[in-house]
Amino acid sequence: MTDARITLDPAFRLGTIDRRLFGSFVEHMGRSVYTGVFEPGHPDADELGLRTDVLDLAREMGVSVVRYPGGNFVSNYRWEDGVGPRESRPTRLDLAWRSIETNEFGLAEYMAWIRRLGAEPMMAVNLGTRGIAEALELLEYCNYPGGTELSDRRIKNGDPDPYAVKLWCLGNEMDGPWQMGHRTAHEYGRIAAETGRAMHRLDNEIELVACGSSGRHMPTFGSWETTVLEQCYDQVDYISLHAYYQERDGDVASFLGSSVDMDAFIDEVVSTADAVQARTRSRKRLRLSFDEWNVWNQDRFGGEDSLDWRQAPRLIEDEYNVLDAVVVGSYLISMLGHADRVGIACQAQLANVIGPIRTEPGGPSWRQTIFYPFALTAQLARGEALRVEPDAPLIDTKAYGPVPAIAAAASYDAATGQAALFAVNRDSTNPLTLTVDLRALPGAQLRTHKVLADDDLRATNTQSHPDRVVPRELTGHVDGGTLTVTLPPASWNVLELSTTAE
Ligand code: AHR
Repeated sequence: MTDARITLDPAFRLGTIDRRLFGSFVEHMGRSVYTGVFEPGHPDADELGLRTDVLDLAREMGVSVVRYPGGNFVSNYRWEDGVGPRESRPTRLDLAWRSIETNEFGLAEYMAWIRRLGAEPMMAVNLGTRGIAEALELLEYCNYPGGTELSDRRIKNGDPDPYAVKLWCLGNEMDGPWQMGHRTAHEYGRIAAETGRAMHRLDNEIELVACGSSGRHMPTFGSWETTVLEQCYDQVDYISLHAYYQERDGDVASFLGSSVDMDAFIDEVVSTADAVQARTRSRKRLRLSFDEWNVWNQDRFGGEDSLDWRQAPRLIEDEYNVLDAVVVGSYLISMLGHADRVGIACQAQLANVIGPIRTEPGGPSWRQTIFYPFALTAQLARGEALRVEPDAPLIDTKAYGPVPAIAAAASYDAATGQAALFAVNRDSTNPLTLTVDLRALPGAQLRTHKVLADDDLRATNTQSHPDRVVPRELTGHVDGGTLTVTLPPASWNVLELSTTAE
């Protein structure tokens, strides 16, 4: 058994936890939309065809914002195809996923769905095959009250109230050669700046996200952000980050340590953005939108060219195990640990396509293992993120060198006196004794210690065993302002604490 120590002190405030950190993503890809969130004729579908069982699960997850409609899909998408009477919507070829898109689900359905969910919309515009004019038309259709051709079209289509979409992504992964309309950093920076300037002229309440790199591994990472931001820094509020990780060659230690890569990625984007701020003498400090992140076993995906024009095919429906869930928990810890700069984070995606929710057409829906760390973090991370500096032994990893045996983040809500500590034990063979110094939190008591762990790290939830993996409760005790708990090997943990502090 090894030991780790952490001090929790509400004086060590890092930043307010933005609820938008608990975002998700619905792309027209595979069965994310069709037979995922939308399935007319399903026993649980409402009058619009929205699956209420999936809505209930997304609500249980605490999803706060949902990015739509892509992803790579958006870069060849005509938003007009998805509005108006369903019977007159065209069927098109989606070049991103070589799929048939019927457009039965479009903007109105997404807006109805997001309102029923009680979450905030986050729309992406097509800067791949389209440009400024179409982005402006979409914004006008969505947000202008009425009296113009486009806003009246929305009203005629059944939505008298403006959608009031505040968050807009200026394209998707424009640095990626796989993207329709892929651009150089210079080309993209220009179009992002001009699109942003025009969109702000139409609606100055909106917030804009510029595309950062599609991953830290991209050859242009760093120079892309610099060149793009040098041109559009004044027009945008966020720069995006995307990251997907997977266990490679059975290397469990590296996979459990992979959130150190996410931490480094965030730190590097912060530094790059701040360097541009300094050079441009701007007063604005940019925030980060980590609007695609997850575990994705990409090695199992044959690539876009292997796909063959089908409607809602089963695409990248990863079945997540316990290990994946623990690692997902560590990524949420990374987000909380950067709450001072990361303002938006969207787990990619919500249903079926690398999703925490799985569905069967005409059948049930269930929670994958990765559902739980998300839902519990969204529920318990409230108020301020606290700076924590775990004192822990190091574990050697092939991919990242020595990493601390524990990843941790904490929150404290002064309004309720509730605190929460999120911790992953990265040691896959040994439990870890964690001692938490709570002397700065008067009357601190452990309310619950929930843990996601299993003797079988490969255990999954399936249609026939949907509750094989669920969080369990452990105990711990507070003695003289010190809490001692045991973190099982390869486990994600949340300690919920009450205090008597005002
Ligand atoms: O989430 C799946 C895909 O991953 C998205 O469409 C794209 O943006 C990323 O490469």
